[in-house]
Amino acid sequence: MTAASAVPPAATVLVCVTCKSAEGPAGAALYNALEARLADEDIALRPVECLSVCKRPCTVALAAPGKWTYVVGDLSREANVEDIVTAARRYAAAPDGLVPWRERPLPFRKGVISRTPPLAPALTR
Ligand code: FES
Repeated sequence: MTAASAVPPAATVLVCVTCKSAEGPAGAALYNALEARLADEDIALRPVECLSVCKRPCTVALAAPGKWTYVVGDLSREANVEDIVTAARRYAAAPDGLVPWRERPLPFRKGVISRTPPLAPALTR
C-alpha cells in the first residue's frame, strides 16, 4: 500500500524485524522481501520489535479492525514469502478474518501460535 487513505487496509501484516536465526537477522530479511512483494496490494506491512514468540522465528501477525488477529511463527524469507502473501490476501477477503483451515497455506495451519478475537465496541458508562 503506497498512498495514505482514510479507509484502513483490509489486512495488516506485522513482521517481527528482531527475530534472528542461526544465519542472522531473519526477521528484517523477511520484512524486506515482503515490502517489495506487497507494494501493490491493499495490504499494509508494519515492522514490529518482538511479538514475544522469539523461540519460533520468524514471527508475523495478521490484523485488521473488526477482525480476529493471528500470530504465526516458524516462517522464513527463503520458504514462506508467497505463503504469507496468500494468507494475507485470504485474511483480507474474510470479513471477520477467519479463513477456513483448508484454505490457509500450510505454514498458516501448522504455525499458528495464537488467535485473538476482535475488540468489541467500547462500552459506555
Ligand atoms: S524477537 Fe521476534 S518474536 Fe521476539
